[in-house]
Amino acid sequence: MNKQKQKYNIWTIGCQMNTADSRHLANCLEGFGYEFTDNADEANLVVLNTCVVRASAENKVNGKLQYMQGLKKHRPEIKIALMGCFVGRGKNTALREQFPFVDIFLPPSDISPIIEHLDEFAPPREQQEEPPLSCTSKMNDSGHLALPASAGNAVSANVPAVLGCSHACTYCIIPYRRGREHSRPRTEILKEVRSLTLQGVKEIILLGQIVDRYGADSDSEYDLADLLRDTAAIDGVERVRFLTSHPGYMTDRIISAIAEEEKICPHFELPCQSGSDKILTQMRRGYTADEFSRLVSNIRRRIPSAAINTDIIVGFPGETDAHFIESYRLAEELRFDTIHIAKYSPRPQTYAARHLPDNVPEEEKERRRKMLDNLQNTILTENNALLLGKTVDVLVDGKTRKNQRWRGRTPQNKIVFFEDSSNQLGQIVSVKIKWTGPFSMIGNKI
Ligand code: 5AD
Repeated sequence: MNKQKQKYNIWTIGCQMNTADSRHLANCLEGFGYEFTDNADEANLVVLNTCVVRASAENKVNGKLQYMQGLKKHRPEIKIALMGCFVGRGKNTALREQFPFVDIFLPPSDISPIIEHLDEFAPPREQQEEPPLSCTSKMNDSGHLALPASAGNAVSANVPAVLGCSHACTYCIIPYRRGREHSRPRTEILKEVRSLTLQGVKEIILLGQIVDRYGADSDSEYDLADLLRDTAAIDGVERVRFLTSHPGYMTDRIISAIAEEEKICPHFELPCQSGSDKILTQMRRGYTADEFSRLVSNIRRRIPSAAINTDIIVGFPGETDAHFIESYRLAEELRFDTIHIAKYSPRPQTYAARHLPDNVPEEEKERRRKMLDNLQNTILTENNALLLGKTVDVLVDGKTRKNQRWRGRTPQNKIVFFEDSSNQLGQIVSVKIKWTGPFSMIGNKI
C-alpha cells in the first residue's frame, strides 16, 4: 500500500474549451488514483493547459514554463505536461528542443498521449491502493470522456460540441493549433450531458469555436437548434448555454429554439470583430457591419430579453482612426451587454501576420481600447441600472470569499450577489435587485 497518493496540478488559461479539456484530463487522472493539489510545488505531475490566441497569453505560458524549469531543477522527479494551443497538433520537434524539461506534449482536446505515460508516472502497481481504472475504456470516439464533474464548478459544465475550426479568419491562430472543424456525434454529447446531470450539474454550456456550425460538417440535418433542444430536454438540465457563435451561421432555427425553449438561455456570444466593412473584408469574416446589425435587430425582435456579447479587435493592420470610429459607432448603436476588447497581435502562421504589416502603434491600440472600454462601462452601467427593483432568477454557482455572499447568474449571464445563511449552491433563486454596477448587481432573495 502506498502511503501517499500521487498528486497532480493543472494550470489552465484561455477559452472554455481549455477548461473542458482540463476537466477531462483531471477526471482521467483521478481515475488512475491521482489526487488534486492546488500547489504545483508539491505535485508529482504538473499540467500546463495553454493558450496562444494573443501574444499576451503566449507570454504568460512562457513565464510559467520558466517557473517550471526552476521547479524541475529542484525536484527532477516531477513530471511536466504541456497541453493545448501552445503545443498544437504537429510533431513538436522545435518545442521539444526548446523545452527539454517538459516530459510530455498534448495537443488541444486530446489527452491520449498522457494516458500511455500514466503507468510510468504512477507508483508501481503493487504499491497502489486499488488497481487503476482504465481511462481508455471510458473514452469515446473523439477522445472525450464522459466523466465526473468533480474537477470543475459542479453547477455548470462546459461540454465541447464542435472541435477545431476551419474558418480562416486572417488574424486567428486557432485553426492552425486546434485542427479542422469536427462536430462530436450528438449521442456522445448527450451521453456526457446525462452523466454530468447525474453528478448534480445544472447548467450545460455547449462549446465550439463556431458553435452555430454544429453539424455543418456532416450530411445530417441535425443542427445546433436540435442539439440545444435535446440538451434542454434531459432530466436535471436547468439551463443550456452555447458559445461562441459566428454571425454568418446564426440561423432562424437556432434563434427560434432559444425563443421557444425556456431552459435555453437568451445569451449570445456573437463576435463582430470590427464595425468597418473594409477591415471585416481584410479579416475575412464573411459579413458586413450592416448584416451584423440586422442580425442583432432580428435576435432582439424575436427575443427582447436577449443579452448580446461581442468581441472587437482594435488596431488590426490598416485600421485607421476612421475605421476604428466605425467600430465605436457600432458599439454605441447596438449597446452590447459585454464587449471583449482585444488589441491586435500578429500570430504566427496566420495570413495577417504573413501579409499585413502590424502598422498601428501600441499607444494608438491602447487609446482605441480605452475609448471603447469607457463606452462599454457607460453602457453596462446604464443597462444594469434598468434592472434596479426588478426580480431576476439566478442559478447559484458559488460564494464570494470575503463577504460570504452567494453568487448567481441570470439567464443573460449577468452576475448577482445576495446573502443567505443556508446553502444555495445549485439552486435557482429569485432575487430582487437593490444595487447595480457595470459588472455585477446585489439583491435580496425573495
Ligand atoms: N489579435 C487580437 N485578438 C485576437 N483574437 C483572436 N485572434 C486575435 C489576434 N491575433 C480575439 C478575437 C476572438 C477572441 C477569442 O480573441 O476577438 O474573438
